[in-house]
Amino acid sequence: MPARGQYDGHDWGSQAAASAVKQLQGMGVQVFPPGNKETVDWGVLAGYDGQKRQIEDCLLYPLLHPEVYTKLAEGTRETFQSNRPRAVLFEGPPGTGKTTSARVISSQSAVPLVYVPLEAVLSKWYGESEGLLSQVFKAAEALGGAIIFFDELDSLGGNREGGDIHEVSRRMLSVMLREMDGFDARKSVVIGATNRKSDLDAALLSRFDMVVTFGLPLECERQQILKRYARHLGAEQLTKLAEATEDLSGRDLRDVAEHTERRWASKIIRKEVPEGTLPSLDDYLLSASSRRHAMLSGRTAQSRSAAPVPIWNLTGL
Ligand SMILES: Nc1ncnc2c1ncn2[C@@H]1O[C@H](COP(=O)(O)OP(=O)(O)OP(=O)(O)O)[C@@H](O)[C@H]1O
Ligand SMILES: [Mg+2]
Repeated sequence: MPARGQYDGHDWGSQAAASAVKQLQGMGVQVFPPGNKETVDWGVLAGYDGQKRQIEDCLLYPLLHPEVYTKLAEGTRETFQSNRPRAVLFEGPPGTGKTTSARVISSQSAVPLVYVPLEAVLSKWYGESEGLLSQVFKAAEALGGAIIFFDELDSLGGNREGGDIHEVSRRMLSVMLREMDGFDARKSVVIGATNRKSDLDAALLSRFDMVVTFGLPLECERQQILKRYARHLGAEQLTKLAEATEDLSGRDLRDVAEHTERRWASKIIRKEVPEGTLPSLDDYLLSASSRRHAMLSGRTAQSRSAAPVPIWNLTGL
């Protein structure tokens, strides 16, 4: 059993926490225990320095140093109110590091991560979704505080015209709005993730203090990511591979590397290449080209990795 966390007395080891975890798991929600700083760190994501910095400022520091924020609010407010972030939105195309960032925050802050894959649980919760959604917030409280990560947030705010499932989404949305206003921001924080920010309901969007945009990696970022997955290639070769992988995400690049390695392993087993050798740039270029072809046929070019933008610039608030 992991050690108790230090964050505002959250109480992972308690009986109440254990039964909250059990209840959440029964609902199809995953709970990651509070790790320690060594478990997952920013090293797992190459590049994206702007996003990492913004996440540190808006999420990690308030979780790690709550006393600084409390003292400030005591000095500035007539009536005490929390000045900590309640909710932060991660938006961007698939495979660009949104979920991974939530794992890093949880690990670095030693706060449990409650992962709610909305699209999947929505059908599972059919008929009782609203009640179950409220239970997620209650369970986070029983844990003594948690990072509540709602993945595929757009499944709540998307097409709201007719149909049963849309009616459920609509009712769930109003519960979500209410819960996001009501939870104790001194103990928990909500992270929402979406590939389709434009589909989010305006009232839901306005509940987020901040938006962190994860764009597709720029060429220099692709080079850094590829170095992670093909470290035997030289700088010049990595540059060439980065040039040939425009519009691919970090996940695509990882998959290109995996695919190349699998093909190379087959060649070793068939004795077509000597044992102990590693794939060459050309092997990676071949996989990259088929991956790009497969990906781009189903995807229009999406926005590049942009500097993080505060929500007020995006919504006109
Ligand atoms: N910058 C990066 N450096 C290294 N690996 C990366 C990077 N970005 C993504 N990856 C790889 O891609 C995987 C998928 O990333 P992740 O699940 O965080 O994406 P996501 O933005 O949550 O995607 P989705 O929108 O589909 O949920 C990671 O586990 C990692 O292996
Ligand atoms: Mg994800």
